[in-house]
Amino acid sequence: MGKVMGVNAVFHDPAAALVVDGVTVAAAEEERFTRRKHGKPAVPFSTWELPEQAMAFCLAHTDLEPAELDAVAYSYDPDLAVQADGDVTADDWEGLRTLYARRAPLFLSTSLPGLDPRKFRWVPHHVAHASSATFASGFDPCDVLVVDGRGERASHLAGHFADGKLEVLAAQALPHSLGLLYEDLTAHLGFHRSSDEYKVMALASFGEPSFLDVLRQLVRVDGRGGFEVGDVQLGRLAPAARAGEAFERAQAGLAASVQRRVEEVLLELAAWVQSRTGNRDLVMAGGVALNCVANSRLWREGPHRRIWVQPAAGDAGTALGAAMHVANELGDKVQPMQSAALGRGWDDEALEACLRRAAVPFKRPDDVAATVAEALARNEIVAWFQGRAEFGPRALGHRSLLADPRDPSNLERLNDVKGREQFRPVAPMVLDERAAEVFDGPLPSPFMLFTHRVRDGWAERIPAVVHVDRTARVQTVSREAEPLVARMLSRFEALTSVPVVVNTSFNTAGRPMVDDPRDALECFGSSPVDLLAIGPFVVRRSSAGNVAASAQVAA
Ligand SMILES: [Fe+2]
Repeated sequence: MGKVMGVNAVFHDPAAALVVDGVTVAAAEEERFTRRKHGKPAVPFSTWELPEQAMAFCLAHTDLEPAELDAVAYSYDPDLAVQADGDVTADDWEGLRTLYARRAPLFLSTSLPGLDPRKFRWVPHHVAHASSATFASGFDPCDVLVVDGRGERASHLAGHFADGKLEVLAAQALPHSLGLLYEDLTAHLGFHRSSDEYKVMALASFGEPSFLDVLRQLVRVDGRGGFEVGDVQLGRLAPAARAGEAFERAQAGLAASVQRRVEEVLLELAAWVQSRTGNRDLVMAGGVALNCVANSRLWREGPHRRIWVQPAAGDAGTALGAAMHVANELGDKVQPMQSAALGRGWDDEALEACLRRAAVPFKRPDDVAATVAEALARNEIVAWFQGRAEFGPRALGHRSLLADPRDPSNLERLNDVKGREQFRPVAPMVLDERAAEVFDGPLPSPFMLFTHRVRDGWAERIPAVVHVDRTARVQTVSREAEPLVARMLSRFEALTSVPVVVNTSFNTAGRPMVDDPRDALECFGSSPVDLLAIGPFVVRRSSAGNVAASAQVAA
């Protein structure tokens, strides 16, 4: 029986996770505390920085001291990386990254005083990604695909998982990387590299894959479970875009072409691994596994019956995977991940104290779910802050902005609230038992990692959540796992006959999702949101203005 803390620090999305006796009890990304999106830049100079606040949260949540940990699992193995024996400034500072990773136990002993340095364990980056999907899914046996930007020296892993053991069948060495190709495209289109890839995915559906033939020549599977990425000169296919400018046809076409080619390669990689193992289930992690359009194509056209994707598929999830991997090595039976709600939470008393401290007028309705459903049915926008924060990039009904899907203008309204591009879709949440009637795709889909086709007759009823290609990125809600969200959805359906609510993350553009009550109040205070539902309490925008005025008068 062990207490294992997982740490991701090497590239971006620093995060910590805690697995106690095989059960995941806490996981959080550092960005939610520091309010700096992705935590830090993925440059060698920042490798030493640890997710100090996320680690502290994991310990405080379980009332543990660093000395009580049985292991700290670090999701990168410097022995597998470029070595820093000579000049650490050579090779794009890769040696410095390796040096810093090697010194991680030293940095950790400073951040976690009392930690026994012998408890430190390095876990290969892609083994950590793989473990975040295999153990967390509960699928055993299964195939596993990690498709990433990069790890120590590889960008991908294909494996067979059975009886808690991972057998690596293929690993593609750098520089060939589907993740880095997608990152290059993201930067070429004027977005932030290793941050805004989902915007490229959304843009791709507006374009024709006019460069697909070129990409098929340059990006090819090798027949041994890996692939080659040739010299894709993006600038020769479409001009670089500047941030904030409208996209040209060629740029949307380039996005569509790369997206389509990545989907095709993933299908071939999945077929290769499945032909060797005969497994019916596939689990996935790595940044590319956040590409829900590709995931859905794998589900529709690939050889696997079920696909499970780690909701924190990016590098944050390696903190959890590393912890699960080491917990398994220590002999614990690692339990599947039941929910992504692994971050911070506050009880009613603490929330009430926050609201009083902020001098904000609030009410405690009989049932906050009913009050919110009524507000949504009146076409109000609601900020929804409930329970523990989500681990991973998706809002799953704990830190969400909600709206009525029947009004097509709510897409524009929400994008305005968040200050983000108008081509970005917003997503629907739907009760488990109603999902199949409205959406066609893999169900249940509790983590929003697949796109679904909106069934005929429904697209017109829920226009705000239907993307240009008539798909939607659905979150299904189970009454057992999410009783409050489920009740809100039921009440909304009772009022409107529509079992779907718009759900997007509770944040504004370029900022991490809100995490603590102060973030929620700040975001609510600065955005045209009508109602904040925070725990059992509600705050109304109009009365917030009145109180600010009356407070001034009183002063
Ligand atoms: Fe990674």
